[in-house]
Amino acid sequence: MSVETAHELFVEELKDIYSGEKQAIKAYPRLVKAVRSESLRDAMQAHLAETQAQLERLEQIFELLEERPGGKTCNGMKGLLEEAFEHKDEIDPGSVLDAAMIGALQRVEDYEIAAYGTVVAFAEATGQTEILRLLEATLMEEKQTDEKLSTVAHEVNEAAIAEAEGGQEEEDGGNDKEGKKEGKAKKSRVIRKPAKPLKKATKQSR
Ligand SMILES: [Fe+2]
Repeated sequence: MSVETAHELFVEELKDIYSGEKQAIKAYPRLVKAVRSESLRDAMQAHLAETQAQLERLEQIFELLEERPGGKTCNGMKGLLEEAFEHKDEIDPGSVLDAAMIGALQRVEDYEIAAYGTVVAFAEATGQTEILRLLEATLMEEKQTDEKLSTVAHEVNEAAIAEAEGGQEEEDGGNDKEGKKEGKAKKSRVIRKPAKPLKKATKQSR
């Protein structure tokens, strides 16, 4: 379809978002299965349920606009989800894969936040209050999911680093259980900042 008017552009943007949400709903259950962290799995399950409701909101919007969803593929979301599946194929299950998955899922959320931000601004500018209300509700949920994933990332990153260091200690021949525990605790205190440890984990996984 050729886009000529601002309204047509608005509808196309919504179709793009609709396609993205549908792709996410299809991909999420397979991605959840690859994850080991319970907190991450819970966050993903909760967002999957939320996304289903978001899809329904979009269907309501298409009804209000007397338009039909479908007929468009969101290539941005396709690429982002492909990257998530690449992690799943390339990294063994465990904390490092969980950390990689959070990175991929936060990219998805940030992409959605940008997309919903665009249509929210348009609905606001054109005074489509009912549509605006529906879109804003979803935008808020996407932002909350992004924040939730950031919180889970702290826990998962620490586990990923401890996993790597635990492996290293075993390689070094340490078999004193208590000493090992202490060593880990000390190290995890030193590595609270996510930026540095993540770099380290990435290096080691290469
Ligand atoms: Fe989302």
